[in-house]
Amino acid sequence: MKEKIRQLCKEKNAVIFAHYYTRPEIQEIADFIGDSLALAQQATRVQANILVMCGVHFMGETMKILCPDKKVLIPDMAAGCSLADSCKAEDLAVFKAQHPDHMVVSYVNTSADVKALTDVVVTSSNAKKIIDQLPQDAKIIFGPDYNLGSYINSVTGRNMLLWNGACHVHSRFSLEALLQLKKENPGVEVLAHPECKAPILAQSDVIGSTKALLEHTIKSPAKRFIIATESGILFEMQRACPDKEFIPVPPEMTEGVGCSCNECEYMRMNTLEKVYACLLNESPEMQVPKETAEKAISSIQRMLEMS
Ligand code: 13P
Ligand code: SF4
Repeated sequence: MKEKIRQLCKEKNAVIFAHYYTRPEIQEIADFIGDSLALAQQATRVQANILVMCGVHFMGETMKILCPDKKVLIPDMAAGCSLADSCKAEDLAVFKAQHPDHMVVSYVNTSADVKALTDVVVTSSNAKKIIDQLPQDAKIIFGPDYNLGSYINSVTGRNMLLWNGACHVHSRFSLEALLQLKKENPGVEVLAHPECKAPILAQSDVIGSTKALLEHTIKSPAKRFIIATESGILFEMQRACPDKEFIPVPPEMTEGVGCSCNECEYMRMNTLEKVYACLLNESPEMQVPKETAEKAISSIQRMLEMS
C-alpha cells in the first residue's frame, strides 16, 4: 500500500502532508510532517498539482484557502476537531457584536467561517509572538481554546476575553496520574501542550506546541521525558531520539465511556487505504466557498507575516 501511494504521488505530481498526531504509517509515507503552523507554511511553498492533507478538516480548509489553485484532498471529510466544533461562526458573530471594540484572535483550530470573522489567526507555535506584537491597549477576544488563552494571558500579561472551548483530548489528562508519574520518576521533565488544563500546565517544565516539544526532546541531554499531549507525537520523538524514553500521561477515566488512551480519533481516521483511495479517485476534494475564503485569507496571511 505504501509503495502504491508513493507511485500515485509520482504519477499525479502530488505531495502528502501529515500532522504529528496521525498514525505512524501515515507519517512514514508523508513528504512533510509538521504542526499546524509548519504545514500551513509549507503548503504555500510546494510545487505540486495535488496536496493531500492528512490531518483534520480545518487543516484541509486552511490549505485550500492558502492554495486556491491547487487540488486539496483530504482522506476522510468526517475527520473533524472537537475544539473547532466548540466555536460556531454564528455564536462568535453574536459575541463580536456584543463587544464591538474588541479584535478577534482565533486559534487555527477553527472553521473557515470563524476565520472569516477573525482579525489574526494564531497557532500554539506563534500565539505568544503574535499577541506580543498587538498594541498594548488592544481589547482582544481569544478563541476557541480556553486553556491556551489562559496560558497566553499568563505569559503575555494580557487580559484577553476567552471563549470557553476545549479539545477533548488535551483537556482529559489525569492530574492524579501525572502526580503519580512524577513521584515514580523523580527529576524527569514534564512536557505539555498548552491546550492542557491549567493544573497540568502548573506541573509541567516545558509548555509548547507539538513542534516545540519535539525540538526540546532532541536538544535536551535528558534521556527520559513525561509527555502530556496527543500520543501520535511519540512516534516522531522516538524516531528522532531512538535512545530516549517517552512516558505518556494517561487520560482521566470516565466510568463506562471514553477512550483509555490519548489519541485523537479524528486524526486516526487517516488510514493508508483512505490516502490511496483519495489519490486514486482525486476525491474527497476540499472546497471552500469563494466569499468565505476571501474573508478568511487575510487573517491567515496576517499570521504568516507576523510569525
Ligand atoms: P499544534 O499542531 O499547533 O501543536 O496543535 C495541536 C493540535 O491539537 C492540532 O490539532
Ligand atoms: Fe482537534 Fe484536539 Fe484532535 Fe487537535 S487533538 S485535532 S485540537 S480534537
